[in-house]
Amino acid sequence: MIDVHLICAARPNFMKVAPLYHALAETDWAQPTLIHTGQHYDRNMSDAILEDLGIPLPDHHLGIGSGSHAEQTGNVMIAYEKLCTETRPDWIVVVGDVNSTAACAQVGAKLLIPVIHLEAGLRSRDRRMPEEINRLITDVIADVLWTPSEDADENLLKEGVASDKIELIGNIMIDSFEMLRDRIEQARSAETLGVAPGGYALVTLHRPSNVDSRETLEPIVDALIGAAAELPVVFVAHPRTMKGLERFGLKDKLEAHDNVLLQEPIPYARFMSLVTTAQVVITDSGGLQEETTYLGIPCLTLRENTERPVTVTLGTNELIDADSLSERLAIVVAGNWKTGARPPLWDGQTAARAVESLKRRAGA
Ligand code: UD1
Repeated sequence: MIDVHLICAARPNFMKVAPLYHALAETDWAQPTLIHTGQHYDRNMSDAILEDLGIPLPDHHLGIGSGSHAEQTGNVMIAYEKLCTETRPDWIVVVGDVNSTAACAQVGAKLLIPVIHLEAGLRSRDRRMPEEINRLITDVIADVLWTPSEDADENLLKEGVASDKIELIGNIMIDSFEMLRDRIEQARSAETLGVAPGGYALVTLHRPSNVDSRETLEPIVDALIGAAAELPVVFVAHPRTMKGLERFGLKDKLEAHDNVLLQEPIPYARFMSLVTTAQVVITDSGGLQEETTYLGIPCLTLRENTERPVTVTLGTNELIDADSLSERLAIVVAGNWKTGARPPLWDGQTAARAVESLKRRAGA
């Protein structure tokens, strides 16, 4: 049996790891071993999502927690190197672009254990984003690059990555959505919160560039309060964002508005239920740009750039700033937003393609 370490760390990782975990567990030649670095630790940012996705407790938990970038990355490397030396997996799969992704990829590369990057090749070309640094580090040392879209292949080829390392397998998050579609539809989260399906804006924000300073967060909060004059706003706030709102005295301002519902993080199925019945999503998340494109829901992304350009060129996404929010929202409310299309291979079969690729490469 080939032992495959699957690394998960932070909220957006779990829905990328889960379909691969299940697909590998069904084979008779590979066994998945789940490693949780502990970068995210609040129940609704971690364990509740794993439960939704039918994943058992991780085989190994590194318990790293929060810290500066260097602390987090360094602590993951120290703990994972120890584990890898003791257990010597045959392959390591890292996903996404969080600090733990780059940390574990470096450990594998130096121990000469083959590393696969799932969701490789995405580029915002904005090196002020910590995730862009993690993507560059991971892609340059990974042995196999599983990409979600053609632009990612082009980025890697331009950077000089050998073409035989690159495989376009599609977007694995769509597999998670389809795997849980029934549960998501049954969750009826909008009704539970008292908002009408199809008649509210769903908001998530967590990028340091948006939420860590008053200069950036306050104009966004003001724009959201403006939006609440048009339709109910359900704001599901990441812990980082909640801290910013409290620190800058903006939480009370938001909560004082009747049409704004400020919520703590919500686990996967209940959250995706809120996405599927939203009239519009306002976000700075990478994953939500993709999920809304798949679902054909208008998405306003509060960022200057995106590493997921296909969601803009083909899908329902558009980059905006706080100043343009009300004008773009008016287009959505008037029913004049672009309809968009699904990118190729965003079809719920990505984990199966990943397993085929690994089987071939491992000679199993
Ligand atoms: C991380 C990822 C980001 C990803 C995001 C999704 C990096 C560099 N960033 O950002 O790419 O989009 O996860 O959520 O890896 N906190 C809690 N409870 C938790 C986790 C975090 O309270 O379970 C708070 C802590 O105060 C912590 C802060 O949030 O310091 C930031 O957490 P961290 O893991 O450093 O980065 P994220 O902003 O979550």
